[in-house]
Amino acid sequence: MSTLKAVRGTRDLLPPETALWNRIEATARAVFARYNFGEIRTPVFEDTALFARGVGEETDIVSKEMYSWEDGERFDIDAMEDAWWRADTEYEDRIYHNRSDRYGINAVRFVSDHAELLMFRGRMDHLDLEHLRQAIAEAKSRPGLFNITWTKDIRGRLVVASPLPNRPEEKAGEDIAVQFLHGNFNKSSQSLTLRPENTAGVVRAYIENKLGDSGQLQKLYYIGPQFRRERPQKGRYRQFYQIGAEVIGPPSAGSESPVRDAEVLEMLATLLDELGITGWTLHLNSVGSAADRARYNDALRAALVPVVGRMCVDCQRRAVTNPLRVLDCKVPEDQPIIDTLPVIADSLDEDSRKHFAAVTAALDAAGVPYKRNHRLVRGLDYYTRTTFEFTHGGLGAQNALLGGGRYDGLSEMLGGPRAPGIGFAMGEDRLVLTLLAQLDQKAATPLADAYIAPLGDGLNAAALVLARELRHKGLWIELGEGSFRLKKSFDAADKTARQIIILGEDELQSGILTVKTFSTGIQTKVPRKELAAFLSN
Ligand code: HAM
Repeated sequence: MSTLKAVRGTRDLLPPETALWNRIEATARAVFARYNFGEIRTPVFEDTALFARGVGEETDIVSKEMYSWEDGERFDIDAMEDAWWRADTEYEDRIYHNRSDRYGINAVRFVSDHAELLMFRGRMDHLDLEHLRQAIAEAKSRPGLFNITWTKDIRGRLVVASPLPNRPEEKAGEDIAVQFLHGNFNKSSQSLTLRPENTAGVVRAYIENKLGDSGQLQKLYYIGPQFRRERPQKGRYRQFYQIGAEVIGPPSAGSESPVRDAEVLEMLATLLDELGITGWTLHLNSVGSAADRARYNDALRAALVPVVGRMCVDCQRRAVTNPLRVLDCKVPEDQPIIDTLPVIADSLDEDSRKHFAAVTAALDAAGVPYKRNHRLVRGLDYYTRTTFEFTHGGLGAQNALLGGGRYDGLSEMLGGPRAPGIGFAMGEDRLVLTLLAQLDQKAATPLADAYIAPLGDGLNAAALVLARELRHKGLWIELGEGSFRLKKSFDAADKTARQIIILGEDELQSGILTVKTFSTGIQTKVPRKELAAFLSN
């Protein structure tokens, strides 16, 4: 039997690396607390419409990378029959109705002058296949009447409709349901999506929980998995983790002020420093207000007309639907053309220019270095004014450690009150990669304070008692195994702990234990009472 594997683009996070993940999260939580942020946890899946409206239909994320499904869908046989009887006043009665207990088959067919319903549910056998074939032949002879597809329904049964695959008999024995019918008779169907990002969810929660009613700024952070069906590569996964934060509130709370942008960026510089990540670059831009962007889109559209024919198919589509997205293009041949396009800075109005100047002035005052990057428009549609990314050279092609920006119109786009905001999300996977490359492996692997080596099976229980004693005092202890030879215990201890405690009959009786410290090679006799203090030094 073939073994089952983690799904492409997902992976297991294992010790000792998970210790690094925990350290990153603990550092982030501590920094967020100092900047007065509180944690928010939103659901991992949301209504698909949230992302379509919030992130934007034309973005790569929404148009091709979301994990979406129809949820709660149930085929409602009663509703279907009702609709059928209601719709057709003149009908020939049931021509065919067969229930075969032997096969658990339930096949029903209704025919009227201008429509037809045929259903097979349950397991399919050759008898039903014959009827299915007849029905399909009939359906095909009356084109346009049925809207027919070949899919699996929510329970994994095949739902067959025409045009049929060439050989339906190959499906014999499978669970199927067949329906030829106008209309949708599924109960409580809703399209859901695994969140590809968390900003839309946070703003939905802000609106739904009326967080704006307090009149205060909301400063919220989150840590958790996100899902995008991207091509997996180093630093890019289909389930990845983000550490993010959002500052959002009514304009009266100062949510639009450029000082909020600068504070968020200054906090990020602090957080990266505290994580020990060196050598990052902050790329900064302004994509302006919605009106600025509309102006810029017009300018881009015009500039693209003479050149777009030489660009990739995605750009040809974007040039029509959302020219701004052309700047996201990664196709190497398109880059020289993109470099000749107008820059958004030239389309900013006075207010947007002032806002951006105030952000950069505050960053200069705080000593946070940045680079102006005119092409940084970000891959999500909700951004207004300030946009930014922190990159790191050590990451390779996927070099964005984090990204973010301002989204002054997002709340209204989601049906909420006016609530300007700014935020970011860091790719935690990429923080880990960067730190692993920076640290040497030894430093990345944390060691226990001590390993207890009982000399003989008979001392296992005593060793457990000693381990309990030390662990209660806050020490990190690895418990060995009495059946091991001393050499094996030493080898195991050397890999997992800084020190080894030998526990034999003599030590147990005398209460004096032998401790060896691996880094110095020194062996010491320590009274049991002083052991905890000795080990933690
Ligand atoms: P984003 O730029 O799409 O922005 O993602 C933010 C960060 O998540 C990226 O810079 C990257 O580090 C990480 N990331 C994205 N996709 C993947 C992936 N497939 N594998 C590994 N890491 C990945 C947002 O998500 C916005 N919600 C950020 C934001 C918050 N804007 C305002 N507030």
